[in-house]
Amino acid sequence: VHIGDLRTPAAVVDLARLGANLAGMRERAARLGVRLRPHVKTHKCVEIAREQHGGRAGPITVSTLAEARAFASAGFRDVTYAVPLAPGRCAEVASLGRAGLDLGVLVDHPDAVDALDATARAEGVRVRVWLKVDCGGNRCGVDPEGPVGPGVAARVARSGFLELAGILTHAGHAYHCRDRSEIAAVARQERDVMLAVADRLRRAGIVVPEVSVGSTPTMSVVDDLTGVTEIRPGNYVFLDAFQAAIGSCRAAECAFTVVATVVGSYPEAGRLVLDAGALALSKDPGPTHVDPDCGFGRVCGLDGEALEGLRLASLSQEHGIVLATPAGVAAGLPIGTRLRIVPNHSCLAAACFDRYHVADGERVVDEWRPVRGW
Ligand SMILES: Cc1ncc(COP(=O)(O)O)c(C=O)c1O
Repeated sequence: VHIGDLRTPAAVVDLARLGANLAGMRERAARLGVRLRPHVKTHKCVEIAREQHGGRAGPITVSTLAEARAFASAGFRDVTYAVPLAPGRCAEVASLGRAGLDLGVLVDHPDAVDALDATARAEGVRVRVWLKVDCGGNRCGVDPEGPVGPGVAARVARSGFLELAGILTHAGHAYHCRDRSEIAAVARQERDVMLAVADRLRRAGIVVPEVSVGSTPTMSVVDDLTGVTEIRPGNYVFLDAFQAAIGSCRAAECAFTVVATVVGSYPEAGRLVLDAGALALSKDPGPTHVDPDCGFGRVCGLDGEALEGLRLASLSQEHGIVLATPAGVAAGLPIGTRLRIVPNHSCLAAACFDRYHVADGERVVDEWRPVRGW
């Protein structure tokens, strides 16, 4: 099957680009002397997760307990659930642990430790716990210099059922960068903040076995991870228009596209309508700090080459509105034309689909099914 014959909108994974992205990060981790624990939330797909480790079920990071269950059934034994744990889901964590999964969870508040400790104690299981540190992303995690971190870590260390795996951070603010030199500065800060936290805890007598960092931007530029033990990039498998715009990859490395069909053509108004809307691409506004006119993704031909003069200007649920400049460009793309869109955020776009068509060039060679739900 040719990608132009797929029922649209269709998610397409370019096998060669995927393979190069996976090999690149594996080599990088080896060169930097750190364990690779990729975040599989980008694809949620067993086939890709195995290839991230060169064909084996190595350590992974997940964003949902549904992923934890599915990857455990596929033979993955060492999993970090990297979203703050809701107290009501501690029992699920305990039962995954009892079933033999080596599951690590994140905490950044004493109440979360209390809930987890009570469940682990009642169920008689040991749970691995990471102290989440906020290195500048301002989403979750303890203040690296405040009193909560050492308090939480000491509370975990005192529990007979919880085991402190280490400290973990995600430099979400790397996505505010405009180029590789800015990303490199965030990467150094991410590492330095974590080494300072580890040092502070160790001086307080707390054993900190692991220091875990990593976003795709920071891991694509970092050249020194002394003191760090593992990295957790996720998006690097597919990459996307956002990563290309901030300089963490080249456009030609993006491995995930959405094939769409032109279903409306208004050349006199310089407008086309695609059958891929927010439910195929997500509504991520993209790297507007770098390019205010970036639109909702890069419009390409089926060969993957960007088409000049076309901007995916807006999305509604099932419509993608493309504006052409000059208007006449739209006349060359009649109804029925297939296009390929590189989304702003491949993790969110991929999550819109229940299957990925795997392509060798423009030929579909396989189909992979991702995990869905929570
Ligand atoms: C805790 C955590 N670790 C790792 C990642 C992976 O980062 P990226 O998507 O930049 O590769 C994320 C992404 O949100 C995350 O939340």
